Amino acid sequence: MKVPLKNAKELEAMRVSCRLAAEVLAEVAAAVKPGVTTGELDALGQKLIGARGAKASFLGYRQYPAAMCISVNEEVIHGIPGRRVVLPGDVVSLDVGVLKNGFHGDCATTVMVSVTDPDKIRLVEATKRALAAAVAAVRPGGRLGDVSYAVQSIAEASGCAVVREFVGHGVGRHLHEDPQIPNYGKPGSGIVLKPGMTLAIEPMVNLGTKDVYVLDDKWTVVTRDGKTSAHFEHTVAVLEDGSEILTLA
Ligand code: MF3
Ligand code: CO
Repeated sequence: MKVPLKNAKELEAMRVSCRLAAEVLAEVAAAVKPGVTTGELDALGQKLIGARGAKASFLGYRQYPAAMCISVNEEVIHGIPGRRVVLPGDVVSLDVGVLKNGFHGDCATTVMVSVTDPDKIRLVEATKRALAAAVAAVRPGGRLGDVSYAVQSIAEASGCAVVREFVGHGVGRHLHEDPQIPNYGKPGSGIVLKPGMTLAIEPMVNLGTKDVYVLDDKWTVVTRDGKTSAHFEHTVAVLEDGSEILTLA
């Protein structure tokens, strides 16, 4: 596995792209309200990306038809925005990638729309904490398995299950670079993290079964049991003396 290491100049470009992605994500997240359609949210994201002189990383990637992935309730990831109307009680995951000056930034968040179900709140909070724990495990000399284990242990301690079929990834000049970053694993296993690696860490966590399948649209990943799923993602850089979350607005 050849993991591209970014030099100081490339890291600076990553910071720009990632900050931009985070800003777009925050603005779209603020627009998630009952009555809005996922297609309208995607159009907003597309507009904000264009206004920043950037491109949507996902649009056209393997023929993906939108700027964002918007995945509601039982949809895990890769939900295609469209006519679906957001309703009170929905759990809405938003994922966006932007390309600027040759580098991609990639991030995701999950918004609860007037959610009162304690199980769904537990799921979303656990997924968010799983990402925070994973980020905290990123350091030079550490192992990728430490990061994966952090996600799995937090998610499972909250009675949730991590998706196996989809993973986080290196990110940089390409949206998907090595290494693959599973959301389950053993501490002390896997490649050694080195300064200059930029990693998109993205826990996908389900309330019920870990099992998922892909809808006939060839993209939308849904839970096998129809129960709710959540997804958070940050792009994180490994530095000489620790790590830096790049996708902060
Ligand atoms: N954040 C996801 C990923 O990095 C979204 C990719 S959607 C796609 O895999 F359309 F670009 F495939
Ligand atoms: Co990603």
